[in-house]
Amino acid sequence: MIMRAFSLCVALILLNLLHHVHCEHSYKVGRVVKRGCDFYTGKWVFDRSYPLYDASSCPFIEREFDCQKNGRPDKNYLKYRWQPTGCNLPRFNGRYLLSRLRGKRIMFVGDSLSLNQWQSLTCMLHRAVPEARYSLTRIGYISTFTFPAYNVEVLFDRNALLVDIKRTSKGRAIKLDSIKKSAKVWKGIDVLIFNSWHWWTHTGRETPWDFIQVGGKSYRNLNRFVAYKIALNTWAKWIDSNVNPKKTKVFFLGVSPDHINGYFWGQPHANQCAGQTQPLLHHSYRGGPHPAQQLLEKVLSTMSKPVHLLNVTTLSQLRKDGHPSFYGHGHRSIDCSHWCLPGVPDTWNQLLYAALITN
Ligand SMILES: *[C@@H]1O[C@H](CO)[C@@H](O)[C@H](O)[C@H]1NC(C)=O
Repeated sequence: MIMRAFSLCVALILLNLLHHVHCEHSYKVGRVVKRGCDFYTGKWVFDRSYPLYDASSCPFIEREFDCQKNGRPDKNYLKYRWQPTGCNLPRFNGRYLLSRLRGKRIMFVGDSLSLNQWQSLTCMLHRAVPEARYSLTRIGYISTFTFPAYNVEVLFDRNALLVDIKRTSKGRAIKLDSIKKSAKVWKGIDVLIFNSWHWWTHTGRETPWDFIQVGGKSYRNLNRFVAYKIALNTWAKWIDSNVNPKKTKVFFLGVSPDHINGYFWGQPHANQCAGQTQPLLHHSYRGGPHPAQQLLEKVLSTMSKPVHLLNVTTLSQLRKDGHPSFYGHGHRSIDCSHWCLPGVPDTWNQLLYAALITN
């Protein structure tokens, strides 16, 4: 019966009759059978009605994400919409989201890619209620965007590694098995969206710690995948023993891919994202699954509390055109890690929206 309903739904989508409905069916993630649609398998399609907002109508947008203002000459990258294979994404309705979130706090926790996604969501919401008053404050590592009329707070906790870092006389110690200090600000939040990976790869002078502590021992260094996995397990344990799923929904953003190796899209190795104006349209990304993403999925599969993976790695891998390149923070260096806004993080937020309103 479900199968029949599903096929009818797909047929209607093919006939272009269903714009706002998404098809109900079940699919499997690991051991868990999920109902609903797999929004994460699909393709990018050109859509003249995009983008969802203008950067110029988002007065608080950070300069580094505003690629048009920074002189990016092409515009087609603004016009791609993610189209899942078996269904349509629900249309983003910021007013409706604000009413669903009334009285609640939603927090992005992670590195500057979380900043990218937080900023995208605040622009999308502001676009929906341009007349509504808002306030923006930053205290320490926490940025807070508030819509007082809706009593909704959208927060960003800049915390690239999730686990605790302690300043000692010998320098910065990252404590892979301790998260208490970090987690203090996560308590009582209604929607948490985590992300962590990029800073685990920083080496040399950019290493964000001086030494590593775990299990009462100190190390000068560890294999980064090993360290990442231990930290993720520490995070998972905290979620499992501190989150009440009736109150708090937990998300983890899949690893956001960068595009610094042209080989993955059929160009010379040294080619980075500069000059890319089109996404890959036919699953032609050669990089294969992201190893950090596979590790993340493994850790999530061991958890007892529900965590929704925003499984954006594959769909973002196709967007070699979505990065600021030379139109980000100054012309000093190329940026193939962050994303222009409007852009790919808007899609991550459409996926977040879909998960929030259907659960
Ligand atoms: C995430 O998406 C990829 C590609 O669509 C898929 O191979 C993988 O199984 C998905 N992971 C989960 C946990 O759903």
